[in-house]
Amino acid sequence: MSCQEDGHAYLRRATREIMMAAALNTGLTAKQRTDIAASLNKVLADSYALYLKTHGYHWNVRGPNFQSLHVLLEGQYQEEWAALDAIAERIRALGELAPQGYAAFGNLSSLKDGDPEQDWEGMIGELKADNETVIRTLRDAMPIADEAGDEATADLLTQRLQAHEKHAWMLRSTLGLK
Ligand SMILES: [Fe+2]
Repeated sequence: MSCQEDGHAYLRRATREIMMAAALNTGLTAKQRTDIAASLNKVLADSYALYLKTHGYHWNVRGPNFQSLHVLLEGQYQEEWAALDAIAERIRALGELAPQGYAAFGNLSSLKDGDPEQDWEGMIGELKADNETVIRTLRDAMPIADEAGDEATADLLTQRLQAHEKHAWMLRSTLGLK
């Protein structure tokens, strides 16, 4: 209860929230929905941080292979950007609010901001590692959706795993790695 809110307003709001939760009758319990949404919050925050860094490195990457790196990163940030909406809207479909704003994402994500002064190999190596971090976050979320029988979330997580594993492969190959 916030200090601006009196006891009656708090009770009204709590009652409304309980009624809304009961009204959402999709075969998932309220706890399953909040647990899945919490795991998706982390997926969304890591995905957003990776999107921001990939877009920034698309701008700031420099070197003799500039054009191919610039285009590679453009393809990746556009794909990542399009996925953010699907992840956030899945959280809403589960009856929870999606996190928004730099502070909220900063608290949820373990990815660090990019450094525009880095050379191209540093940038690509960092994006490779960050894609791998997102992949691990997706894998952490998968059993929570699976155990609840939430196939819609599991399907979304599978699609994101495929996308980030492909991004990570292309970044590894750019560095001359397997
Ligand atoms: Fe651009």
